[in-house]
Amino acid sequence: MTDLTIAIAKGRLQEESFEMFRRARVEVSDEELASRRLLIEDLSGRYGFIFVKPADVPVYVEYGIADAGICGLDVLLESDADVHQPLDLGFGRCKMVVAAKVDAASRGYNPIATARVATKYPRITADYFQRRGVPVELIVLSGSVELAAVLELSERIVDLVETGRTLRENGLVAVDTITEITARLIVNRASYHLKRAAVSELVDRLKAAMEAH
Ligand code: PRP
Repeated sequence: MTDLTIAIAKGRLQEESFEMFRRARVEVSDEELASRRLLIEDLSGRYGFIFVKPADVPVYVEYGIADAGICGLDVLLESDADVHQPLDLGFGRCKMVVAAKVDAASRGYNPIATARVATKYPRITADYFQRRGVPVELIVLSGSVELAAVLELSERIVDLVETGRTLRENGLVAVDTITEITARLIVNRASYHLKRAAVSELVDRLKAAMEAH
């Protein structure tokens, strides 16, 4: 029986998550990491890891299937899950931006029309435009969101920018930054109290690993 189960977002953050665990002296065998197993344990047997889609990390943590998880702030804001967020892990740094075609970027929003905005993040997008009093029609996509602006499905997009290359190579520019994004440690509310010692130890180990880096 492991002390804690930790949900890991498959994809971009996965490798850096395990680099950080290694620095925190939580070792996982290369063979396990290279496998397709969706549940693995570290070498000490104290930590179990489950691999899920990024957007599912807060779900597994909120429902207590995982005691803790690592996911981007983007996923966290979009999910509105009721979880503890004890640590900004600092990696996976990118920005959530509003972007548009270069020629459309200088045009403001038409005050008597509803702007169309395409995104994978409807909640963050709706909140951003609502706070500015700009009425928008959201078009929810699952990926390659930049295409929506290129092909004029929408006037604006809301998406993540890391290097800026995708925007640049598709003739788009960022018109506003909604928020900076980094990977976060999240913890189930019940686990935070019932497994206090194990959770504190994990947080301390991760903090030490970040400071040493
Ligand atoms: C992400 C994001 C942008 C791109 C930004 O997409 O949605 O499209 O990366 O990176 P850049 O600024 O370094 O070019 P991802 O590759 O995760 O796939 P997606 O388009 O399916 O969301």
